[in-house]
Amino acid sequence: MRIIIEPDAAAVAVRAATRVADLIRRSPACVLGLPTGTTPLAFYGELVRRHREEGLTFSRVVTFSLDEYIGLPRHHRANFTAYMRRNLFDHVDIDPANARVLDGRAEDLLVACESYEAAIREAGGIDLQILGIGSNGHIGFNEPGSSLGSRTRVKTLTRETLEANAPSFEDPDEIPRLAITMGVGTILEARSCLLLALGEEKALTIRDMIEGPITAQVPASALQLHPDMIAILDEGAASRLLRRDYYSSGRHKS
Ligand code: PGA
Repeated sequence: MRIIIEPDAAAVAVRAATRVADLIRRSPACVLGLPTGTTPLAFYGELVRRHREEGLTFSRVVTFSLDEYIGLPRHHRANFTAYMRRNLFDHVDIDPANARVLDGRAEDLLVACESYEAAIREAGGIDLQILGIGSNGHIGFNEPGSSLGSRTRVKTLTRETLEANAPSFEDPDEIPRLAITMGVGTILEARSCLLLALGEEKALTIRDMIEGPITAQVPASALQLHPDMIAILDEGAASRLLRRDYYSSGRHKS
């Protein structure tokens, strides 16, 4: 795992956007896996800026969203598909047919999960999976206890996740208790992974992910198995790493 520590959130966004823009320029029809949450907001903003000001084109890029709530109306603000439109898709030249999302209102969720996995395979697999991390160590909605070999499926959300996501809802009773998410195994099959984390409130989780044992209790720790995984952290998120100085010393790749 390669660890990059940046001074602040803005620098994390620029660094991550540069990696994605380089990939798109090298490989214009690349396949990206995309997360939601507060962490990637500035990163998406930077991609939009590069599209507008630097001609970065998404015209052949294919994207797969990482997860989605079950049962929310399609246009609800907290719906992850609405989030992706608001923060990226509506502002770049992506072909809507290439912006694949999970359907949290599908009549048959099992079929929806299986066809998402099939669509990823048909697209040739994910070239770069971008990730955030929950304070409980989840990636996507793979909550603690998720099988490290899991595929796209329905998960029950933990209390911590419901609390963390409550600000997106006016009425706490509206928050879905279930979500659909790519599995840990699905994520590990991406050719490369890029995880972003910001703030001291993530510092202990980041330490568990990078320096702790690989355990289903911290699903993000499975990323230690990935041969091409980069974590881009701000100073706060990196602040509890035991080998922080070593990572900053810099030439190692994995
Ligand atoms: P956040 O969420 O970016 O809003 O902190 C990350 C996550 O839960 O994966």
